[in-house]
Amino acid sequence: MESDPNFPVGVFDSGVGGLSILKALRAELPQEDFVYFADSGHAPYGERDPEHVIERSRSITQQLLAQHRIKALVVACNTATAAAIHVLRAEFPALPIVGVEPALKPAVALSQTRHIGVMATRGTLASAKFQTLLASLAGQAEFTLQPCDGLADAIEHHDATRVIALCEAYTKAIGLFGLKSGEKDTLVLGCTHYAFAEDTLHALLGPQVQLIETGLPVALHTRRLLSATGLLRPQGTGQAQFQTTGQPAELQQAVARWLRQDVAVAHSA
Ligand code: DGL
Repeated sequence: MESDPNFPVGVFDSGVGGLSILKALRAELPQEDFVYFADSGHAPYGERDPEHVIERSRSITQQLLAQHRIKALVVACNTATAAAIHVLRAEFPALPIVGVEPALKPAVALSQTRHIGVMATRGTLASAKFQTLLASLAGQAEFTLQPCDGLADAIEHHDATRVIALCEAYTKAIGLFGLKSGEKDTLVLGCTHYAFAEDTLHALLGPQVQLIETGLPVALHTRRLLSATGLLRPQGTGQAQFQTTGQPAELQQAVARWLRQDVAVAHSA
């Protein structure tokens, strides 16, 4: 079926983390409609094998196309992008697809000390896509990679005590942060959930350490892609719909907390 600029953009993540990307998308593209799909019933992705993530990504894309006739898809999850975006692009060639990846290049551009910490899921760090990105920056900075088991799950369930304990343990494991030579002055948040731990991380590391997330670049890239494919909606008042394979109340509370909006959330099988 022909696509149309008035159709919505689909956005999915393993859970609530992709709301950090949706926030930037709605700010940059206020005329667009969005459908946000949280796969919380099958999360976390980051500690599962890539086949599970590929299967879930395929099934969500099929549902978003069949139920909402999405005109484009934003994979608002680093782990799903790393494991599945090449499969989605091959299987849905007519659908414009945007992914997210840890912002290593922007971090290199910003870091003065050239020592950079990277927090991400185990799945993202182990992926061939991430290893290729890392290799492309060889010699430009020293990266310390930290898999953060459990952190996305703690953020997903809004477990503040566990979020603080895990952020403390993982930043300690990365090493010394600061502006002196050899210290890390930049931390890449390589999982969309971690944007919601920014306050905790700033409190632990101090305001001089730069935290890099990917909402704005992804939103700008989505705008360019919609424009290039003739799918940018010229005008309108954008609406967002929300659905989850987990508990609707959890997504509803996360939207209220982070997007300051009271919304209805549908349950998906
Ligand atoms: N939010 C996801 C990411 O950006 C993954 C969280 C998870 O399910 O492990 O990687």
